[in-house]
Amino acid sequence: MNAQTLSVPAAIRARRTVRHYRPDPVPAELLDELLDLATQAPSAWNMQDRSIVVVSSETGRKALSEAAFGQPQPLEAPVVLVFVAETAAWEAANTDISAQATGSGAWNEQFTAMFESRAEFHSLRDRGLIRENAVKNAMIAATYVMLAATSLGLASAPMNGWDPELVKQAIGIADRDDLAITVMVTIGYTDAPPPHPGRRPRERTVHTELYAG
Ligand SMILES: Cc1cc2nc3c(=O)[nH]c(=O)nc-3n(C[C@H](O)[C@H](O)[C@H](O)COP(=O)(O)O)c2cc1C
Repeated sequence: MNAQTLSVPAAIRARRTVRHYRPDPVPAELLDELLDLATQAPSAWNMQDRSIVVVSSETGRKALSEAAFGQPQPLEAPVVLVFVAETAAWEAANTDISAQATGSGAWNEQFTAMFESRAEFHSLRDRGLIRENAVKNAMIAATYVMLAATSLGLASAPMNGWDPELVKQAIGIADRDDLAITVMVTIGYTDAPPPHPGRRPRERTVHTELYAG
């Protein structure tokens, strides 16, 4: 949509956690593109068991800043995206998902039958891993958003420092035990991207064949 977009490798290298923003709003069509790209993120069994709550009102962002122990990002950034993991989504019929995938030829009969049996989800539930599974899927969508934002010329910051009950209250799901806050991502513009804080040498974090830490 924009000749100025960065490639994926360039966006990965350029992305920084931006904690201070200009007050400029994010144009609606840019936000729309960002959210559209977010929904392209993969999820286990294509369950798409994560939602994004877009918070741009001052009241909403103030509540999120307070939920985040007073961190300034949600107040300064014009948009905050709250990624919600839907831990009970797999229990619904979800026939729209299988109908799309069979219709496009992406899934064969055998794969569709496996999806419909929910065998893996039952196993995850029995091992107490259902929440973790949904959180992984929400986190991948958040990662897509951060890289897409950089590519589109927007600044972002992931945030995990918050009280989940207060975040849930701020987005109207205080009474929903089946929903888990995964991460918040602030979106906006900056004049001064922070310097790269550095990474450990690759030999420290990438191993060959066997873990050698
Ligand atoms: C899951 C996650 C949660 C984070 N939560 C916060 C946060 O609450 N507040 C904050 O200032 N930075 C937060 N950060 C940003 C990290 O401090 C930052 O990613 C790290 O220092 C590396 O810097 P970079 O993102 O610019 O490469 C978070 C990062 C991640 C991945």
